[in-house]
Amino acid sequence: MKKNIAIITPGGDASGINTCIRSLVRSGIYYGFEMHGILRGYDGLLKEQIIHLEKRSVSNIIHKGGTILKSARCSEIRTEEGLNKASRILKKNKMDWLMVLGGDGSFCAAHRIARKSGIPVTGIPVTIDNDVYGTDETIGFDTACDVAIEAIDKIRDTAVSFERVFIVEVMGREHGFLAVTVGLSSGAEFIVIPETGCDTEAICRELLKDKKNGKTSIIIVFAEGAGNPFKLAEQLTKKTGLEVRVSSLGYIQRGGSPSTRSRILAARFGDHAIKLIRRNVKNHVVVVQNDAIKSLPISKVTGKNKKIDRSLYELAKHLAI
Ligand code: F6P
Repeated sequence: MKKNIAIITPGGDASGINTCIRSLVRSGIYYGFEMHGILRGYDGLLKEQIIHLEKRSVSNIIHKGGTILKSARCSEIRTEEGLNKASRILKKNKMDWLMVLGGDGSFCAAHRIARKSGIPVTGIPVTIDNDVYGTDETIGFDTACDVAIEAIDKIRDTAVSFERVFIVEVMGREHGFLAVTVGLSSGAEFIVIPETGCDTEAICRELLKDKKNGKTSIIIVFAEGAGNPFKLAEQLTKKTGLEVRVSSLGYIQRGGSPSTRSRILAARFGDHAIKLIRRNVKNHVVVVQNDAIKSLPISKVTGKNKKIDRSLYELAKHLAI
């Protein structure tokens, strides 16, 4: 009997999800599995929205943003009832394995479903936040950085022309991975992240020093988890007299065509995930460490706090003199 593999994308979309779905489906079929897709995340699972996926179902999606399986936030899956229902539906549809593309929240729910149903799961890290413990990178992170950098390069033109201070808010949930990489790559004068907090007085002092040193425009990359950028703008204007504007990049960071790096990672993660089924490695998350693709038990990944690379943060500071 052929094994039935279900793919679900319950988290925020990130560029490269479709590339990974294609890799899973094609690799799965190559190794003789029956592939299925669950529509609209856990909400769709609870509504039994399951489709069959064939080789041609994933044609011409390698370059597309979003997820062909669609996504939805679902609070019911956090309840006992929701978990029981999800397990019943997976069993009723004779699913042998669940592939979950998402971040920590998606993996936690999947692990609970696995424990209830006995159906093994594999997690594939997909999020622009890059906050999944145990992996150097998540699918979508590199593309989101590219999108944000391109936007900041454009904002810089206005900042230079008008000699303004710009606070550019980037996503990242409770972490500053996106902000640090984007800040360093775009030459930001300041990077404000939840991990270090927002020291308004120190920023004011530096801004006034910068002005004295002949800097006429400033970019502050502000992670969404670090607080309210508009409040910071108000305080900076009040204390320095400088003209400050806020620009929030928002959802443009999640969409668009994946970068080469996101595509390669997605292809490798998908193929590795299928190989874990062949080796019967249950309840693992696929990760990349020093460019090697491997996997870790899901219990060693979820609920853990991934640490920011301080050296990148310090380098950005050091180069912004
Ligand atoms: O996790 C990805 C992410 O885009 C975060 O950066 C952001 O905080 C959150 O999702 C937004 O979630 P929603 O799609 O529910 O608005």
